[in-house]
Amino acid sequence: MTLILWAVLGYLLGSVPFGMIIARLLGLGDLRNIGSGNIGATNVLRTGSRPAALATLLLDSGKGAAAVLLARYFAGDTAAILAGGAAYLGHCFPVWLGFRGGKGVATFLGTLIALHWPLGLGACAIWLLAAALGRISSLSALLAAAFSPILAWAMGRFDLIPVSLFMAVLIFIRHRTNISRLLDGSEPRIGRK
Ligand code: G3P
Repeated sequence: MTLILWAVLGYLLGSVPFGMIIARLLGLGDLRNIGSGNIGATNVLRTGSRPAALATLLLDSGKGAAAVLLARYFAGDTAAILAGGAAYLGHCFPVWLGFRGGKGVATFLGTLIALHWPLGLGACAIWLLAAALGRISSLSALLAAAFSPILAWAMGRFDLIPVSLFMAVLIFIRHRTNISRLLDGSEPRIGRK
């Protein structure tokens, strides 16, 4: 019962669409009609506001981390893993937006950092390295996601392999259109429309 409760709380927390809220509050428009139409920090950056993109990145990653830390504090490690996975799911399929959400990269990173910081920082490092070399957000996210279960395994955190794998598979599914654009060479670089 407690585990289900933490999964629901994690999902509800992950469902909060911070990018949409910030863009609306700052009068930047409806993210659905901008760039890729996604509600994440990469698309917020396409509005031209770096502070808004940074705030979205921090809040979207923070909600994943908060779900994990709260669940761990009150209910232990299994609840933390469930709450983190559920927060990721909440970002992708938010109840507040008719289940049409984002791709969840920031929430994935925040969740991993809170679950096991070396694993989270490893995934962030892969994202940053790929972004520095290729300047493409989606490709960086796909690489970080693909390597996360491998990193969990290499770090001996076998308990975190299922949740890493779950989020990685969903990240690939949520990036279907990005993958098509990557394949035909039309995926925009970071900050470009
Ligand atoms: O974090 C999402 C990113 O990987 C892709 O975003 O807006 O370019 O589809 P976007």
